Amino acid sequence: MELTSVAVPRTYRLRSEVLGWASPAIRIDAEAEHSALTDGEAVVAAVSHMSWPCPDEPGIPARYFWAMAVDTAYQRRGLGRRLLAAVADRARARDEQVMWADARESAVAFYLACGARVAGEPYVDDGTGLLVRHVVFTEISPACLSAGGSEATG
Ligand SMILES: CC(C)(COP(=O)(O)OP(=O)(O)OC[C@H]1O[C@@H](n2cnc3c(N)ncnc32)[C@H](O)[C@@H]1OP(=O)(O)O)[C@@H](O)C(=O)NCCC(=O)NCCS
Repeated sequence: MELTSVAVPRTYRLRSEVLGWASPAIRIDAEAEHSALTDGEAVVAAVSHMSWPCPDEPGIPARYFWAMAVDTAYQRRGLGRRLLAAVADRARARDEQVMWADARESAVAFYLACGARVAGEPYVDDGTGLLVRHVVFTEISPACLSAGGSEATG
């Protein structure tokens, strides 16, 4: 499994299937980076991320990530944790001390298992209509989240 940066269209099939996105193209910011794990040519896990302040940790440089998706056939094998580590690697490289996301309720336990805390109350996301809440990582040292691979371009 290779950790790589991908052009976002390569993640559309996965995200449509796993996240239920009807129109993936509308959810992408031009400044975002897209990290993925590939099995051969197939993108089997992906996350988008960019520098963006966290309302729960004001004044601290932060990285926001979204649309984390792991192919159902590959879940519970550590791929989600590897993607979080890739986001943490990028955050550290940019001197960001926090990373955070709007997590759907069904994924909150995953983020907690990986070291996040929840912040604030659940609310309905405008874009998806899903109930979400903030998950915040303030410990993003390599000891907390290990990427297990270096990021290449492709
Ligand atoms: C949530 C998701 C990204 C997790 O990815 P994954 O590759 O299956 O997770 P990992 O194997 O890396 O799991 C890391 C840890 O989280 C735990 N975990 C994973 N999914 C979990 C869940 N649904 N409930 C509780 N714990 C969970 C694992 O047991 C593991 O803990 P451990 O290291 O202590 O054993 C993946 O299941 C997914 O894509 N789900 C559907 C889409 C989604 O909800 N995306 C998030 C949008 S906010």
